[in-house]
Formats: sequence, C-alpha cells, structure tokens
Amino acid sequence: MDDYLYFAGRALDGMAAIVATLGDDLANTRPYPGANSPYALLTHCVGVADFWSGALVAGRTVSRDRDAEFTAAGPVAPLLADVDALRERLRQDLEDLDESAPLHAAPPAAYQGPDRALTRGGALLHVLEELTQHHGQMETLRDLITGDPRTDEQRLRAGHGVKWGSLPPGTLGAWVADMDFPLAPAIRERLGAVADLGYPHWPQGDPAISAFEERMIDRYGWSPQPRRTRVFTDLIQILQVVIEHATEPGDAIAIHVPTYPPFLAAIARAGRRIVPLTVGGDLAALHDCALLVLVNPQNPTGHVFTRAELAAFAEFDLTVLADEIHADLTFAPHTHIPFATVRPERTITATSATKAFNIAGVRCALAHIGDDRLHARLAAMPLDYFGQPGVHGLVATTAAWRESDLWLGGLLDRLTRNRALVGEWVATLPWDAHYREPQATYLAWIDCAGSPFGPDPAGYLERHAGVKVSAGAEFSQHTTVDTGSWIRINFATGTDTLTEILRRISAAV
Ligand SMILES: Cc1ncc(COP(=O)(O)O)c(C=O)c1O
Repeated sequence: MDDYLYFAGRALDGMAAIVATLGDDLANTRPYPGANSPYALLTHCVGVADFWSGALVAGRTVSRDRDAEFTAAGPVAPLLADVDALRERLRQDLEDLDESAPLHAAPPAAYQGPDRALTRGGALLHVLEELTQHHGQMETLRDLITGDPRTDEQRLRAGHGVKWGSLPPGTLGAWVADMDFPLAPAIRERLGAVADLGYPHWPQGDPAISAFEERMIDRYGWSPQPRRTRVFTDLIQILQVVIEHATEPGDAIAIHVPTYPPFLAAIARAGRRIVPLTVGGDLAALHDCALLVLVNPQNPTGHVFTRAELAAFAEFDLTVLADEIHADLTFAPHTHIPFATVRPERTITATSATKAFNIAGVRCALAHIGDDRLHARLAAMPLDYFGQPGVHGLVATTAAWRESDLWLGGLLDRLTRNRALVGEWVATLPWDAHYREPQATYLAWIDCAGSPFGPDPAGYLERHAGVKVSAGAEFSQHTTVDTGSWIRINFATGTDTLTEILRRISAAV
C-alpha cells in the first residue's frame, strides 16, 4: 500500500504543481473551447479518488456531482489544500484493505468507469489510472495555455509567411509585424472545419460584423451604430477608400510620424499632402487638414493615446480615420479608448483581428463608418466595388474575436516578458537609444544614431548581424521628418530567437 500511495501521490504532486504554478487565472483557463481547465481537471481527480476509494472501497459517505467537477472554477489555494487532505483520506481508506472484497456499491454507469465488475483492489487501480492519465493530460493543457516558448523556425521558413519565408537561411526575422506563435486553437479548429468554399452565404448576417459589434461593447464600452460596419480585405484598402471619398486631391491629411509606411505611400500616391504630427506635439496644423489618420495604438512607437489626447483631436473640424488594429495588444495598466467614443459622428473606425491574433494572411478587415456623408457615399457604391474578404477571413476573424481571448491573455503575458527582455537589453547599449517601452504592440522603436551601424542601421544589421529589422527611414517616407537612424524590432517571437536576435545586434556593436 505504501507503493500505491507513493505513485498516487506522484500524480497528485504533478498536477498540484501545475495548478500552483499557473496560479488563479491561468489554472482556470480553457486553452480552447470544450477543453478542461487545469483547475477543473484536478477537481475531477479529487472527485474520482473520493468516490472510488472513499465510497466504493472504504464505504465512506461521499456526495459527488461529477458534471460539476468539469465546470468547477475558483482560487487555487483551497483546492491545493483539499488535495493535501485527500492524501490523508486515501491513506485511511487503504487501512485494513481487503483487495479481493466486492465494492460497497456499484458505480453509476454514467461515471464511465471500467466496464467490468471490480474488486476493491481493482477500484484502487482505476483511481491510479485516472490520476496518472489526467496528469499527462494536464501537462498538455499547461503547454497549450502557456505556449511553447521556442520558435519553430523550420515551420516558419517553410510556410507562406513573408516574415521568414523571404529570408536567406541563417538570417533571423524581426521585421514585418507578424508574430512567430502558432494560431489560437479556436481559429485553427474553425478554419479546419470549413468544408464548403462556394460563394459565401451568411443567413444570420456577416458573423465578423456581429463579432466586432459585440466585442466593442464588451471590451471597450463602445456601442457601434447598427448597420454602419462594412467588411474590407485590409486596412490599407480602408484608408484608400476614405482618402478617395472623404477628401479631394491636394487636401492635407494629418498623421503621426513615424508611422506605418504603406499609409504614407498611399496618401502621397493619392496626391494628398501629408501633415506630419508628433505624439504630444502641437496640433495647430490640424486646422488646415481634411482628415486625421489616427493610428491608436501607434505603430511603431506603441503609444496608447490617453483620453485627454483624444479629446484634443476632437476639437478640430475634420474627419478622423481611427486605425485601431493594435488595440487588443494594449498592455496593462494602459487602456485603449476607441476614438468613436470621443467623437462618434466624424469617425471611421478601422480594425481587424490580424495583428492581435496573427492572421494577416486571411485578408479581412472592418470599418465602422460613423461619418454620415461618407456612409451615404459608400452605401451608394455597388457592394463588389471594394472587393470582399473570403470565407476563411470571416471565419478566422470571428473565431478570434469570439473564442480566443484566453489565448490573447496568454499572448500578452508572453509579450510582456519579451518586452522586459528588450528593455533590459536596450539598457546595455552603449548609446542613448531614445527607447520608450511600448504601451501596446510587440514593436520596439530604437534610435541607432551614435551606434557604429552607419546611416542605414537596418541594412547594416542585415548584412553584418544576420538580423532583419525594419528600417526607420520608411516610417517617415514622403515627409520632411528624418527617422533614418532608427530601427524597429519585432519582438513577437520565442524567447530563444529573441535572445539570439538581441545577442547578434549587440555583437555587431
Ligand atoms: C497601424 C497599422 N495599420 C494597418 C496595418 C495592416 O494593414 P493591412 O490590413 O492593410 O494589412 C498594420 C500592419 O502592421 C499597422 O501596423
């Protein structure tokens, strides 16, 4: 019996350690819809042991609600205390055991136990079977919840993603804003279940639009106006449509610089004048502008605009295109405030699940058109004029927004750890990198003026360090602002790869 208690104790130890390490939040996390949480699984194991060993072997009085075990949730400390008490109960159950005696009662068929009559010894083996198999299952749950910290470079290089697929072997990718983590399980599952790729048909209305509308209410306290949200394939397309239909050639368009390079290119290409703003800077130039493109949270600085900053923009008589694609990547204690809550009537809110859930390849974005005039203009255009995302885009976006917030929580934990690594590393650089810890996103904006990397630091690092980062110059193209000495490092990768990226850059110093 000592041996039995030893091995049962090992399984309980293993599960208790996982639950204790995960803590109150993560232990109550289900890594995908329908999965058990580690908390629920351990609760179930206590129920199994008490029922089979206590009630059926020892004849103890045990009341059990088996179904409730799988939905149980709560703080881990009392559960761990109960697991300790269970060890003692088990020890007492096994005193004076007659292994070959019949059970005190027959187990209910619904308990899905062994399908043959058991002796008391057999019932105890079943308890051990349950504890050990659930221990293994819990290790998998833990890995899914905390994520594999290693980067699967081989998979990434062989995939369709430009971030790694376009690189020569040996060069590490820290450039374009894609992440190196596997898809959220719900997205993978829902994409895998798409069986019919005929022309899309959504009898209940576009699922991505209702997912967006409900998410904005639940997560950000903003109620979008009904029937004002349209789907597009990407945000650059939304910007181009807004430029075309809300401004005239020659108009001035304000945007914080540095910014996402394709936006600057699109404004310039459309023959509009770029008015560069700086975060926290003078806004007087907005008096002359027809449109403000407000990227919030900001790329590449990771700045999250405060309510006061947003209120200052709302003072001006202009249309605002609020690009809020990075909103779900806001780190506590900062909070994302949709611009539409500040100034609903002139705001176009553009977003997608592509950044926070790493699904840029599915091509799906949404825009809520709060501006009446623009809404009327777009409503008059034929639906197919703008192009439409495919079934996969809508399915993945819906799975992201409706079913993947637990995954998102784990992602933010991971990005927070990576951000800390970057912060520690920047402090070791022998020049002032003018680095501000990003309040959102997985992008680090770093000044290399004063470094030995020369006038094109990104090019230098690609050639001499084997690391591809984004070149700062692109983030101010078509303006008089000069960000040529800056680089943008994407830190959404495994800690192993991130550590190597930072090591290589330091070595190039
Ligand atoms: C601020 C911002 N807007 C938009 C995008 C992406 O736009 P699209 O949907 O056109 O790929 C990005 C991508 O990194 C971005 O950082």
